[in-house]
This record gives sequence, C-alpha cells and structure tokens, in this order.
Amino acid sequence: MSKIYTSFEDEKLIDSVLQKDKGLMCSDKLPKWTVLRLALAQSLKSSAEFYEENQDQPEAGGKEYNLRQVTGKGQENDFTDLFCTLLSVYHRENLFADDNRFRTLLQKHIRRGLRDMRTSWKDSHDFHEYLYQELFTDSDYQKSIIMNLREKIVSAINEIGVSGNIEDQLDGPRITRFLISLSDVNDLDRLRKGLEKLSFLLGLQKQGIFLQSTNQERVAGLDIPRSQDSWYQINGNNLREWVLHTPHNMILPAWPGVDVLGKPFIFDITEAPHILVGGTTGSGKSICLHTLLLSLLLSQSSDQLKICLIDPKHVEFTPYAALPHHMYGKVITSSEEALRILTQLVNEMEERESILASNKVRDIIEGEIKGVIELPRIVVFVEELADIFIQSRAIETPLARLAQKGRAAGIHLILSTQRPDAETFSGLLRSNIPSRIALTVQKSSESKIILDEVGAERLSGKGDMLIKISGSNIIRVHGVKIKQNDIEECISKFRRNE
Ligand SMILES: Nc1ncnc2c1ncn2[C@@H]1O[C@H](COP(=O)(O)OP(=O)(O)OP(=O)(O)O)[C@@H](O)[C@H]1O
Ligand SMILES: [Mg+2]
Repeated sequence: MSKIYTSFEDEKLIDSVLQKDKGLMCSDKLPKWTVLRLALAQSLKSSAEFYEENQDQPEAGGKEYNLRQVTGKGQENDFTDLFCTLLSVYHRENLFADDNRFRTLLQKHIRRGLRDMRTSWKDSHDFHEYLYQELFTDSDYQKSIIMNLREKIVSAINEIGVSGNIEDQLDGPRITRFLISLSDVNDLDRLRKGLEKLSFLLGLQKQGIFLQSTNQERVAGLDIPRSQDSWYQINGNNLREWVLHTPHNMILPAWPGVDVLGKPFIFDITEAPHILVGGTTGSGKSICLHTLLLSLLLSQSSDQLKICLIDPKHVEFTPYAALPHHMYGKVITSSEEALRILTQLVNEMEERESILASNKVRDIIEGEIKGVIELPRIVVFVEELADIFIQSRAIETPLARLAQKGRAAGIHLILSTQRPDAETFSGLLRSNIPSRIALTVQKSSESKIILDEVGAERLSGKGDMLIKISGSNIIRVHGVKIKQNDIEECISKFRRNE
C-alpha cells in the first residue's frame, strides 16, 4: 500500500497551481507531484500540533500517486531517505523501521500542506511570491535574527548587572524563550527589576519581555518578542484541526489560540463562566470574539447551543445572520433591541431556575447528569460594551442579573470593550465576571482593570493576549487570525446541514 491519496479538493488546487498564469506554469508543464512535494515542505514548516486523519483509499474525485513519483523511490533522484529522515526528526520516531507508518505520515503532511495552500493562496495571487513568503522568508532569516539576539541578550543582561549564560532557546510563534542559568540567586531579582531596561537595550519599544520560571534549577526563562516578519501565524486551519480533537469532557470548548511556545490552549466557557475581553483599538478583540464563536459553532449543533449576538457597530456579527443558532432569530444591532432581548433572557433564566428547582437539581449540569434536564446552552456575545452603555445605561441591569445567576441556568456572557475603565466595567459586572481576556492596552492601569494585574501594556498587539480563566493562573496566548473566509466556510456548513 505504498500510495499517496489525494481528495477532489486537493486535485482542484493542484490543477490551479500548475495551470493558472499566476501559478507554476512554465514552458514545460510540471508534473503534479511537484505540488505534492511543495505541500510537504509547507506542512513541515508548520509548528501547529499535528493531528492525524487516516485515509487509505482514494476518495471520489481524488487521485493516487506512487512513491516513485512523490519521493522518486527507485529513480535517479531518489529522495525517499531524505524525506524519511525529515519526518523521523519531525515526529521523533524511527520511520526507517516502518515503511507503512512513513507512508501514512507522508500522506498526512502532504494533505495538510495542500489544505494550508488551499486556504492561504488565492489563484489571483502569484504562486511564486506566495511560496517565497511561506517557505523561505522566515527560515534562515529567523535564524540570523535569533543568533543576533543571543549576542545582544548576553551583553544586555550583563549591562543590568546579571551574569548568566544562555543554556538553550525555545522558539514559539512570536517569541523566543531564552533559558538563562543564573549563578547568583540574587540575579533573579535583578532580572525581574531590570526587564524594562532590557527591553530598552534591545530596542523593543513598548513590547515587553516576560520573565518565566522554569522547572530547571537556577534557570530563568526570558520570553523575548521577535520582529513581526518572523512570526508564525495561527490561522483558521489550525482552529479547525484543534476542534476535531476537543476533549470529550468539554461542554462549551473555546480555543482562543496557542501559548507562547505554540501549544493550543483550550478552556471550557461553562467554567469561565462569563468573560470580559478588553483591549485598545486594533488590538484584536473582534478577531478574538470570532475565534471563540467559531470554536463553539464548529463543535456544537444548533440544538445544543443558542447564541445572542449584540453588535451596535453593525459590522462584526453581520456575516452570522443566516445561522440557525440565534436565540431570538437574528443579530441584535440597536440598544433598544438589546435591552429587550436581555430582559427576555433574564426571564428565560428565571424560567430555567424554576425548572431546576422543580427537578431538585442545583444547575443544568447536574440536571443533565441525572437525565432530567435537556436545555441548550446560551452564549451572549457583546461587541463593544462601552458603545452600548452610551446608548442605554439601562442595559447594565439585565447584564448584571445574567452575570450573577446565569451560570446555573446555562447562560454565559462574553463582553468586549475598547474602554477598559471603571465606568464601563463597573463593580457589579466586575464581581460577577471572573474570567478576563486582556489584549494589548495603552496603560498598565487598564491592564489592572481587566486582569487585576499589570502586564497587558507590554504585549505585542495583533491578538497577543493574557487570559485569566476563573481560578487559574494567567496565561499568555497568541490568538488565531480568523479571516472572513473562515467564517463563511463555517456558516456554509450549517446551510448544507440544516
Ligand atoms: N490573532 C491575530 N493574529 C494576527 N493579526 C491579528 C490577530 N488579531 C488581530 N489581528 C490584526 O489586528 C487587526 C485588528 O483586529 P480587530 O479588528 O480584532 O481589533 P479590535 O480590537 O476589535 O479593534 P477595534 O477596537 O477597533 O474594533 C486585524 O485586522 C488584524 O490585522
Ligand atoms: Mg473590534
């Protein structure tokens, strides 16, 4: 079974890469497997977690390729051993000992690479340019940036009076963590106090360095932000893959992004159970809300989940209008409607409370476990809380009621605001919304309002965030960059299914 199988969608992509003016077309038509090799390279560059889906037969409209074509097996230019080495290193297993496993992984990489190309390359764009950007720009370039950085860091930490050696480094999508062994324990304090100076010495402007503890003796981790052209982007493909592998115990799974070393981060909205998302304009709040919403839509049917989308700007949530999940049939765009709908939701909550009481259960989860209650969860998303409050302060009352008592009834709030100040995030909401997501803010005082801690003023922008889920430690996450086509793809699935 030494074949590589592709799907109909893969073949369509391969054809457009080879045939379109902006593709690889040249005087001699290139064979199709050229694209498979490029897809392999594309996939090997990905630091996203590798999820496997088995395909051991051709799909309708797909094709099969021999290893002779794909790796050149038995040919003059035989790259089989080279490919096998690359995959063995990537997966940390000896694939030379298992031909079948090698073929399976090779196919999975090729198909993942093709899928990435399908969503990130448009056939109106130059494919050579795309390849250059995707495959080459940040490999050697990134290495040279990091080598330079290493030298600079050693001299910068010396300058603030710390004598340490760089033991190792771990590259994440946006930061590199330098593991520094400290001979004098007092150096840890100097390092902590000198972070701002270090940032200045390294020319990082507002972006900060974060100090991390490690599990090694006398070793501290310095998370140093890299320049933007070396970032690895987390996109909708990553989110779709993660969702396929959501742990079964999650009720309302949310995948906002990856931690600083690239590991996907997940939390359960029912445990949050309400979230405030704050950050300055352009910091990535809306994209974060889209990511949370898509995480839910990709994993929940409209029987399990109802949503209330409140969007006074009339922009962000409009694409979701056709979904079957709306609790009240549509996206809410005016403050009068928002007030009416939220008051209705408070009534819904009270009705649910009496159902819970008559079934002698504490909350919807206990009701489900006992098999006496089956109600959809309701998640309310509010885009720009401050705007809504300007239009109608009265909205605060039902929001606060829902925040106080919604959890038991399966109602959860996700509120975003550009203005993280005491007026918008008032005491009543504050004390009942224990989970917070802080994107980049201007001032440390705003970070304190969102998180009760400073730090968000030192983030790198564009979806970089600090997440505090009720009762857990703060974790830094780089968000998924959801694009319009990811939203459309998700919505079209519901059109097909329902
Ligand atoms: N996770 C991300 N990865 C990369 N870029 C991102 C990410 N999130 C946001 N961005 C970039 O930041 C821009 C602004 O994002 P977004 O519209 O979500 O910000 P916002 O905080 O909602 O702004 P506003 O307050 O003006 O509504 C996006 O257009 C995108 O270019
Ligand atoms: Mg926005």
